[in-house]
Formats: sequence, C-alpha cells, structure tokens
Amino acid sequence: MAVLEGAAATFVAAREVGMLATADAAGAPSVVPVCYAWDGAELWIALDAKPKQMRDPLRLRRARDIQARPQVAFAVHDYLAGAWDQLAHVLIRGEARIVMPGETGHAAAIDLLRAKYAEYRRMPIETRPAIAIRPSRVTAWGAVAERAVRPATLEATIPGRRSVRRFSDRPVAREQVERVLEAARWAPSPHGRQPWRFMVLTQPTTKAHLALAMGEEWQATLAQDGEPPDVVAKRMAISRERIRSAPVIIVPCLYLVDLDQYPDPERQAAETTMAVQSLGAAIQNMLLCAYQAGLDMGWMCAPLFCQSVVQAALALPADWLPQALLPLGYAAADPKRRPRRPLEDLVRWDSQT
Ligand SMILES: Cc1cc2nc3c(=O)[nH]c(=O)nc-3n(C[C@H](O)[C@H](O)[C@H](O)COP(=O)(O)O)c2cc1C
Repeated sequence: MAVLEGAAATFVAAREVGMLATADAAGAPSVVPVCYAWDGAELWIALDAKPKQMRDPLRLRRARDIQARPQVAFAVHDYLAGAWDQLAHVLIRGEARIVMPGETGHAAAIDLLRAKYAEYRRMPIETRPAIAIRPSRVTAWGAVAERAVRPATLEATIPGRRSVRRFSDRPVAREQVERVLEAARWAPSPHGRQPWRFMVLTQPTTKAHLALAMGEEWQATLAQDGEPPDVVAKRMAISRERIRSAPVIIVPCLYLVDLDQYPDPERQAAETTMAVQSLGAAIQNMLLCAYQAGLDMGWMCAPLFCQSVVQAALALPADWLPQALLPLGYAAADPKRRPRRPLEDLVRWDSQT
C-alpha cells in the first residue's frame, strides 16, 4: 500500500498512541510512544517538550534524529488478550519534517491534536514545533478492517457499545463466547457470592424450541390485552426471528441460593435487589467485552414475563431464574443509537463548585 487510506487510515486515526521509530545520523535507532493526529495526508505529532526541564523541544532525541535523517517508521497496533483473531497493526514508513509555528499546516494540525486529546487543550502546543510525517509505504496486518470500527480504550468502548437486534449469519467461535462469559465472572457481587448463572444457546433446535415456547405464552398475553390478531402475528414473527437468527444466545439467570437468609421480608428483598443489581453489572461486562472484541449483543427482557416457560423449554434447574436473553453475534448493520440525556439532567452535586 503506497499511502495510508481505507480501513488502515480509519484504524490509525482512531487509535491514541503510536510508536515512532527514528534513527540518528550514525543509524542508531530510537523508538518512542507518541500521541498523534492524521489529517488525511500527514501524521502530526506535537513536540510538547517533555521532560519538563527541557526548554527547547528541538533538542528532543526524535527531533534531532529527524533533522539528521528524515526517514521514520510509525506503528499503531491493537492487542486484545484472549482474542488473537482481533490482533491488528499498521506500519507506516515515511519522511518526517519539523514544522515551526506559523508554517503551513501547523495551526490546522494543532486544532486536530486538540480535538483528539483533551489534554492538549490545556497545553501551549501552538507555540512549539510539530513533527509531520508523510507516509510513503504502509503495511497493514491482521484484523485492521474490523478493529477500525472498534475503539481501543474503555472510555471509547462505553459510548460505542450499542444494542443490536439483527445479526448476520457469521458464526461466533466458542472461545469468543467464553471470553464474554469470563468478563461476567469478574462483576462485583453481594458478599462476592456471584448470584448468577448463564445458560448458553448455540443449537438452532434449542433456539427454535425456546422461541416457540415463549411465543405461545406471549401470544396468549397479547390476545388477553386486546391487541388485534394481525399486530400480534407481526410482533410474534419479529420476536421469533430475533431469537432464531442470533448465532448465540446467553440467558443470564439469577441464582439466589448462596445469598444471606433473613427472617424478615424487607432484608430478604434487599438481598434479592443486590443480586439483580449485580447481574446487571455482569451483563454490562459482557456487553462491553463483546463490543470491544468486534462482536455485538442485544438485550431482551422477555424471560422476566415467562420465567417458568423459559425454565421448562431449556430444562433449567428450578433455582436458575432466567432474567433476559442476550443475543450475541456480528451486527447485520449499524443500528440507530438512542440519544442520551445530558449529565446535568442526571446528576446532583452537593455544591456548585
Ligand atoms: C433491563 C433491560 C431490558 C431491555 N429489554 C429490551 C428488550 O426486551 N428488547 C429490546 O429490543 N431492547 C431491550 N433493551 C435494550 C434497550 O432498549 C437499549 O439498551 C436502549 O434503547 C439504549 O440503546 P443502546 O443499548 O443501543 O445504547 C433492554 C435494556 C435493559 C437495560
């Protein structure tokens, strides 16, 4: 690849740290992690004069090297422990130059860097030289296209996660499912008792059987509510299809057996509430882990309304109380996201400062 474009460009633009390799006049190499921004033609790196005692950023090793020998290499990578099918890196070779404040491109690059990194908004990087790298050769390796649409950090994974309701028929490897379940295991729980169990559905026959059993129950409820038969039929078909077409369904269940027992109903109810809260945390761990690993999940609350039907259809032990269906797979398309309320609507502080 001659230039940085397509998925490789998206991947590079979305990462936050790259490794910049330079060499001095004698060829002695150095490599340093850097923040950077991609403007579509060049990579820009601020010379923010760390360490603090160094007044002149041009005395930094990378700046001296570039002035002596402009050829550089720049690498960006994703490493997901336990998901090596998601490993990816892009290696860029190119020519670097030092760009002084006021020179062409400097001001626009500072704006880009500040848009990408909040910290740069508080630093006087506009008064300092920057490095610009023009790629001449690009090598992309691994799951670059998949990683390009998934963030590398937890901060970006949280708002990126979305509820997916339609999946492609791409299968999900068992290791991927286990990785997601492993994330659930580390959720906080009351007294550390982990009051949850997970039933995993991968077989079309199990999913079809469950869809049918739940459908019959739901049909009766909707008819009881006075819904017109054509509306009932349509909603049933959508729900059935959601269950059948998901490559994997995780059924998170409450398991209250190991919790503390109280003689009064109030404290017992609080104990159960803690278990439900904890199950929510376990589910969120799974949703985030799946999203980060290139998968997607949904959340269907239907089992809450027909617990005994789900228990019977899946032959669950009587003390496994199904709480939801979590379809897991690869999204058929990017779903629309619901907007969020601003933080001011959700939070009260004990002071204005
Ligand atoms: C407890 C709970 C139950 C949910 N049940 C359903 C459901 O039955 N069907 C559905 O399509 N989505 C369900 N969702 C997903 C929400 O609709 C979704 O999280 C919300 O619209 C925000 O969208 P997002 O997850 O894409 O950010 C449920 C979410 C939670 C937390």
